[in-house]
Amino acid sequence: MSTGRARSLAVGIGLGVLMAGIAAASAAYRDADCVRCHRSQVEAMAKGGGKHVDVGCTSCHDGHPPEVRKPYPVCTGCHEPHSADPSAADCAACHRAHAPKRVAYAVGVPSAACGACHQDALAQLGASTTKHGRLSCGVCHRAEHGATMGCGDCHGRLHPEAIMARFAGCADCHHTAHDLNHWPAKP
Ligand code: HEC
Ligand code: HEC
Ligand code: HEC
Ligand code: HEC
Ligand code: HEC
Ligand code: HEC
Ligand code: HEC
Ligand code: HEC
Repeated sequence: MSTGRARSLAVGIGLGVLMAGIAAASAAYRDADCVRCHRSQVEAMAKGGGKHVDVGCTSCHDGHPPEVRKPYPVCTGCHEPHSADPSAADCAACHRAHAPKRVAYAVGVPSAACGACHQDALAQLGASTTKHGRLSCGVCHRAEHGATMGCGDCHGRLHPEAIMARFAGCADCHHTAHDLNHWPAKP
């Protein structure tokens, strides 16, 4: 399971020997062998692999070319999706197997996939009749999970400074980004 010992095994083995050995021995590779030919993946895992380090290479890569083409695991073989929404099942939209703790995504990531864990935000934005209601989550929470852009990043200094100086912020008049210009009735 551990890849820690793997590096020492690379010493003294020439590339020609390695390549000649692929066809014959590939089916029987063990975790300690991977570093000989896939140093960058082994190093990436050691650095950012999180709990996947303990899972081990061969638990996910069952078999090897040429016997097995594309020996890739299905994430849902070991994990439940975050919700029943189909977009939440596209794990690769947010996760990379060799760096599972870093959640990064494209601007157009489906809002419903975020909504798996942020139901309130999804519902509020979905109900908004303002132009914010048409924007997907990734437009304002760009690239990395947890990132949030400020109002000014998109709107600049729209209103006169002299007026703005008298208010604590945009929220005084526009409420929140998800529930823009909508002031719920007080209970
Ligand atoms: C002797 C060198 C060697 C060793 C050892 C080795 N590999 Fe590979 N691996 C290769 C080569 C060469 C390819 C490209 C093969 C191809 O595309 O036909 C490859 C391809 C792969 C692929 C991509 C397959 C695909 O079709 O997309 C994976 C995944 C992989 N190796 C995982 C591993 C794992 C995990 C280990 C250790 C258990 C390992 N390899 C050990 C040489 C090696
Ligand atoms: C062979 C089983 C297996 C497969 C396949 C697998 N995982 Fe995991 N994963 C685990 C285990 C075991 C843990 C640790 C769980 C724990 O301790 O709670 C884990 C942890 C994680 C974590 C938390 C990481 C951390 O360090 O906290 C994420 C995120 C994750 N997996 C995503 C994925 C994704 C995305 C895929 C598909 C590319 C995937 N996993 C495939 C077994 C697997
Ligand atoms: C939790 C499951 C998991 C573990 C553990 C894991 N991998 Fe992978 N690996 C994947 C997945 C999924 C892909 C396909 C990546 C993609 O689609 O971008 C992949 C891709 C690869 C590839 C193809 C080239 C590339 O980078 O896309 C190689 C080689 C590889 N892994 C080697 C390893 C080695 C060596 C280890 C152990 C140090 C390892 N993997 C551990 C799931 C895993
Ligand atoms: C829209 C982005 C997104 C998608 C798509 C996504 N995830 Fe996640 N996932 C996250 C975020 C964000 C976290 C971290 C949550 C936290 O900080 O607690 C996470 C955490 C995890 C964890 C570790 C915490 C836990 O819940 O056990 C696992 C395992 C995981 N995801 C697996 C998956 C799998 C498997 C899929 C595909 C079926 C998937 N994720 C799809 C964003 C996503
Ligand atoms: C697996 C569940 C999960 C998914 C999927 C998920 N999040 Fe989160 N998110 C969390 C949790 C848990 C927190 C609070 C803990 C934290 O700060 O990490 C959080 C916090 C946040 C925060 C606030 C960070 C802060 O510092 O206050 C933002 C913004 C956010 N998520 C946006 C998103 C966006 C956008 C998506 C879709 C790309 C998404 N999340 C997908 C679980 C998730
Ligand atoms: C990622 C960019 C982005 C961020 C961040 C952002 N907005 Fe917007 N906002 C837009 C876009 C795009 C529109 C629609 C512009 C258009 O179509 O003319 C808009 C429209 C608006 C409107 C007009 C609504 C309507 O329906 O007419 C107001 C008011 C507004 N934003 C206020 C805010 C406030 C306050 C914040 C911070 C809490 C904020 N915005 C953050 C992109 C952003
Ligand atoms: C128009 C830009 C914009 C869009 C679109 C947007 N957000 Fe936000 N979000 C913000 C801003 C700005 C904040 C900081 C609080 C505020 O001013 O409303 C925030 C705060 C958050 C927070 C932390 C505080 C809270 O309210 O829970 C989470 C989580 C979050 N957003 C998730 C999401 C999700 C999920 C989506 C998609 C359904 C989304 N956001 C869409 C701009 C946006
Ligand atoms: C004193 C109250 C007040 C404050 C504070 C305020 N606004 Fe406004 N804002 C307004 C009013 C009133 C309108 C015009 C609304 C309309 O026409 O429906 C407006 C309109 C807008 C529009 C739409 C402009 C257009 O061309 O359609 C945007 C975007 C906007 N504000 C962003 C912001 C941002 C960003 C901040 C914080 C820097 C902010 N506002 C602070 C009162 C305010």
